[in-house]
Amino acid sequence: MTVGDTLIAPQASVNPAISIRNVTQRFAPAGGADGVLALDNVSLDIAPGEFVCLLGPSGCGKSTLLNIVGGLFKPSSGEVTVAGRRVDGAPHPDEIAFVFQESTLFPWYTIIENFRIALKFQGAPKSERDDRAMEALQAVGMAGFARHYPSQLSIGMRQRVNLARGICVRTNILLMVEPFAALDEQSRMVLGEDLSILLAKTGKTIVFVTHSLAEAVFLSDRIVVMTARPGRIKTIVNVNEPHPRAPDFMLEPRFGEMRNDLFALLRDEIRQAMALQRDPLKVRA
Ligand SMILES: Nc1ncnc2c1ncn2[C@@H]1O[C@H](COP(=O)(O)OP(=O)(O)O)[C@@H](O)[C@H]1O
Ligand SMILES: [Mg+2]
Repeated sequence: MTVGDTLIAPQASVNPAISIRNVTQRFAPAGGADGVLALDNVSLDIAPGEFVCLLGPSGCGKSTLLNIVGGLFKPSSGEVTVAGRRVDGAPHPDEIAFVFQESTLFPWYTIIENFRIALKFQGAPKSERDDRAMEALQAVGMAGFARHYPSQLSIGMRQRVNLARGICVRTNILLMVEPFAALDEQSRMVLGEDLSILLAKTGKTIVFVTHSLAEAVFLSDRIVVMTARPGRIKTIVNVNEPHPRAPDFMLEPRFGEMRNDLFALLRDEIRQAMALQRDPLKVRA
């Protein structure tokens, strides 16, 4: 456990926020063939308030794992518990919010109307919905755009709003699938800083999928490096640095060292994944 001035970044906990136990996922094609083994016996505990990144080559099962944690579907075997409750193939809107790569705002509603829908779906009292929406928009510097339509915002602004919508439902857990991938590098670093500040303020548990090594090091308490299909945990890298992370962290020699170490770890897996792409049903030994 690392104790910083502003935050405790626990690495294991007696009461994990998320517990993934021996999760295996096989996507079976029609006709009873064996199908694709996407995840193979993955186990991981994530502590409350922890920021965990999933890093691995395309097709290694990152989205599949997050979707299982979010209750979007049941794994072939194994189980996930969230706050001690078993996730049984149904979403937990009180506990978990998703933030996806694409902005998933309804284009024909204004930003605040989009937020009201999310809050209504979650069961938030009507009298609280606008205050909660505005507070979340404020947190990402977008309060002035509540009455705009999504098409009136830049991609970067839409991603900020998307993040705010994930915040306004006030869940303990945020699951984020490459939320900044559509942005240029500078904007994503700035949004990453905001996310680190948010984490330090709210103590949310965040599981984040990214392809960016720098983003993984900058944001994470732990980086889970996965293997090419079938997805297994290859290793876990600890980043002992309190949140909120300062931009200066990126200039430290250990930042560059960690990023290089991650690339060395991933390199074989990326080559493996490229070979698998040429033969979609093949699974390595
Ligand atoms: N619904 C599905 N049906 C069949 N195969 C799937 C399905 N979803 C994912 N897969 C396969 O499972 C593997 C893992 O996919 P995914 O979780 O999307 O990987 P990642 O997010 O790491 O790129 C890939 O080989 C993918 O083709
Ligand atoms: Mg994916």
